[in-house]
Amino acid sequence: MIASPTPTTTGPARAVRKAVVPAAGLGTRFLPATKATPKEMLPVVDKPAIQYVVEEAAAAGLDDVLMITGRHKRAIEDHFDNALELEQTLAAKGDTVRLDAIRDPARLAAVHHIRQGEPLGLGHAVLCARRHVGDQPFAVLLGDDLIGPRETLLSRMLDVQGRHGGSVVALMEVPEDQIHLYGCAAVAPSGEDGVVRVTGLVEKPAPERAPSRYAVIGRYVLDPAVFGVLERTPPGRGGEIQLTDALQELAADGTVHGVVFDGPRYDTGDKGEYLRTVVRLACERPDLGPAFTSWLKEFVAGLEDTGGRSVTRDSEDPLAA
Ligand code: UTP
Repeated sequence: MIASPTPTTTGPARAVRKAVVPAAGLGTRFLPATKATPKEMLPVVDKPAIQYVVEEAAAAGLDDVLMITGRHKRAIEDHFDNALELEQTLAAKGDTVRLDAIRDPARLAAVHHIRQGEPLGLGHAVLCARRHVGDQPFAVLLGDDLIGPRETLLSRMLDVQGRHGGSVVALMEVPEDQIHLYGCAAVAPSGEDGVVRVTGLVEKPAPERAPSRYAVIGRYVLDPAVFGVLERTPPGRGGEIQLTDALQELAADGTVHGVVFDGPRYDTGDKGEYLRTVVRLACERPDLGPAFTSWLKEFVAGLEDTGGRSVTRDSEDPLAA
C-alpha cells in the first residue's frame, strides 16, 4: 500500500513547502547493483525506493521536491518525468492501470534536480539546495530511507517546527550495540509527549561515548540557518561534510527539537534491510500480499524442516564446492 498523495495538513498553512531529497551517495554497500544505478532507484516491490519517499513528502503537503543527484542523474530524472512513448503504447492498448502507474511519479509534486558534483557528504548535499530553498524552513528526506507508508512522522515534525521554529530531527531508539551506525542525540524533556529538546549531536559514536540510544534517522525539517553553518563545517567523520556536525552547532544554540518515532523504518541502502523491506511491503500489498504470504509461509516451513539450510540439495547447488 502506498502513502496517499492527498495532503494530510490541517490547520493554518505551513511555512514549509519544499522538500530536499539527497540521492547522490555512492551506494558502496550495495555494489555491484549500484555500479550504474543509484541505490535510490532499486525496486521495492514494483516502485523505486525514492518514489515512496516523494509520496511521503506529497502526503505531508510538500509540493516542491528538489532531488540532489550524482553521476546517475538520468534514471531519477526520467522516473519523475513523463514517458510519452510508453504512455502512447499503453493508451493504444487501453491499459489504464499501467498508464496511471507510470504517470503517478510525475504528478506527485513539482520535481527539480540539481547535481552534487562530488559526493562530499550529506551536509554538502544539503548545502547544494541553498539557492533553490531560499530563506524558508524546508524538509530533508533521505532517498534510501523509507518510513512505513501509513505513518505521519513528517507531518508531526512539520507541526513541531511550526510551533517552535528552529530545526527538527527524527529520533528512533536503537539497541546500544547499534548506535555507532547513526548520528546520536543528547536530549532533554520538552514537556510534550513524543517530543524532546536536542542538546547535542554526535555522528556515529562508540557505544561508551553515546549520549543516548536515540539515533537520528533520515527525516529533518531544517531552519535555513543551517546553510551558513554548513558553509563553514569542515569534513568530519569519514572525510565527509556531515549534516550532524552542522546540526550540533544549532543544537548548542537550543534551536533543535526531536520527534521520537517508533514505527517501521527501513534503510534500503543496506542489503539485509532492503530484503526485509521488500518482503514486508509485498506482504502488505492487497494485490500481491495473499499469494506471496502463503508462498512465504511454505518457504519458511521448508527452511525449518531442513534446519535453516537451503532446500536445494548440495549436489544441485552450483555454488557448492
Ligand atoms: P549514505 O551514507 O547512506 O549514502 O547517505 P552512501 O554514501 O551512498 O552509502 P554507502 O555507505 O556508500 O552505501 C545517506 C543519504 O545521503 C545521500 C545518499 O544518497 C543517501 O540518500 N548522500 C550521501 C548524498 O546525496 N551525497 C553524499 O555526498 C553522501
